[in-house]
Amino acid sequence: MKFTQKVAAAALFASGAIATDPLTADKVEADIKTDELQRVLWNLNHIADRNGGNRAFGEPGYKASVDFVVERAQGRFWPEMDTWVQPFNHTYDKTLEISVTGPEGEDVFVISPQYNPATPLPGGITASLINTPVDDATGSMCLPEQWEGIDATGKLALVKRGICGVAEKLKLARAHGALGVILYNQDPGTNYATPTLQAENIGQLIPVGIIPLEVGTAWIARLNAGEDVVVKLLVDAVSDTRETWNVISETKEGDPNNVIMLGAHLDSVQQGPGVNDDGSGTAALLEIMGSVKNYKGFPHKIRFAWWGAEESGLVGSLYYTSQLSEAEANKIKYYFNYDMIGSINPIFEIESYENSGIGPQLLEDYLVSKGKTVEHGGFGDGNSDYVGFVELGIPTAALFTGAGEPWDPCYHQECDTIDNIDYDALTVNTKAAARALVTLAHSLEGVPTRATTTPNLRGRSKIASQFKRWKRLAEESHGHGKMCSHKEKKSTV
Ligand SMILES: *[C@@H]1O[C@H](CO)[C@@H](O)[C@H](O)[C@H]1NC(C)=O
Repeated sequence: MKFTQKVAAAALFASGAIATDPLTADKVEADIKTDELQRVLWNLNHIADRNGGNRAFGEPGYKASVDFVVERAQGRFWPEMDTWVQPFNHTYDKTLEISVTGPEGEDVFVISPQYNPATPLPGGITASLINTPVDDATGSMCLPEQWEGIDATGKLALVKRGICGVAEKLKLARAHGALGVILYNQDPGTNYATPTLQAENIGQLIPVGIIPLEVGTAWIARLNAGEDVVVKLLVDAVSDTRETWNVISETKEGDPNNVIMLGAHLDSVQQGPGVNDDGSGTAALLEIMGSVKNYKGFPHKIRFAWWGAEESGLVGSLYYTSQLSEAEANKIKYYFNYDMIGSINPIFEIESYENSGIGPQLLEDYLVSKGKTVEHGGFGDGNSDYVGFVELGIPTAALFTGAGEPWDPCYHQECDTIDNIDYDALTVNTKAAARALVTLAHSLEGVPTRATTTPNLRGRSKIASQFKRWKRLAEESHGHGKMCSHKEKKSTV
């Protein structure tokens, strides 16, 4: 974000060597080095350390992450790259305090989802619990019929977490009179990830505290024995609108009418430094850019995007795609998404849809040549920045190494640090990404044209409707059983 340095730097570098070496996949693959990827991750980890432990939207650690990427893309690579920062606004929210006090006055372990509304303060909500039915097949209490006959008026509803969105559970609990929800986790222990209720639900929800399965089970036993179990929930939260940014950088080389694009998100959750999620993809793009900028002789332009506010609901990438004119969307010939590509116990999952063309094959060929077992997944979960591109019908593919136990036990947690990376997976995936990119930068053979059957979502202020559409997309693919429920980034569940 230091554009004024550009002019001064231009004078200094004016006599510098201009790259003329032709771009090949072998050269870029050889340029990608594990220790350089590690250096980027060290920097991102350090940025979080110096800024309250995270790099989240609306927090100083995100701004510092933007500065870090811009310093490389623009400060160092301006002779070969054109870089810009795309600002947008989004609703910021932070839980300042959350507590659940049990019937004996004991403090219970509790976490707060993103966009959790506040309870009345300073007292919180003290009320009797009402138990609700469990449905581990379709998810508990997120369908209207599951609430039939339940009157939660004036109570705290005790609901099981899992399978379906937390926000849906809260909306229905509110409609049935509950003052708040005590959500007990679906797995034992206290090592669980923080979901998001998503900004578009603000004003439609009631406060929630997410407690361990063991505590929920004990309280259910007491309720079943006819006891009145009185619990206190207190949530203090702030919410306001904050500006944030996507960083976009593209090669000066290449035809602007034929663009190959790579994306990773630059923000973390508030709970941790986000080194795997998505420092791994951020580092991959930075190292690929650092190599590509040394070469010429490729016909298609290469564009890198570091998205903002992904963890708040894919906001940056949806903003970007919503701002594209029809003509600009047509120029993007391929989009690759790299979100969580260095999980400590990695799977090598290639994600694609019906209009992905040759992209998944290019990634697979390289991974298989390195002895990796490749798994395939779809985009049905709608949980990363490919959504806006898929909705535009742009050929798209993604790599993903798994979130949550056992793939990344530190998913969305404080321990997603520099120690939470499998460097072999990160290196191999970055090289796979680089080779696939270089192939398409030379030739669009095997790349389908943009699908025109997908809904046209462009327009100036369509973000809200986009959110609804991709949620529906996710729900529809739920129905078709396309999902592997253990491997996704289930950030809303
Ligand atoms: C964000 O909001 C601020 C304050 O309302 C406004 O000045 C700014 O122009 C907005 N930015 C964008 C990109 O809409």
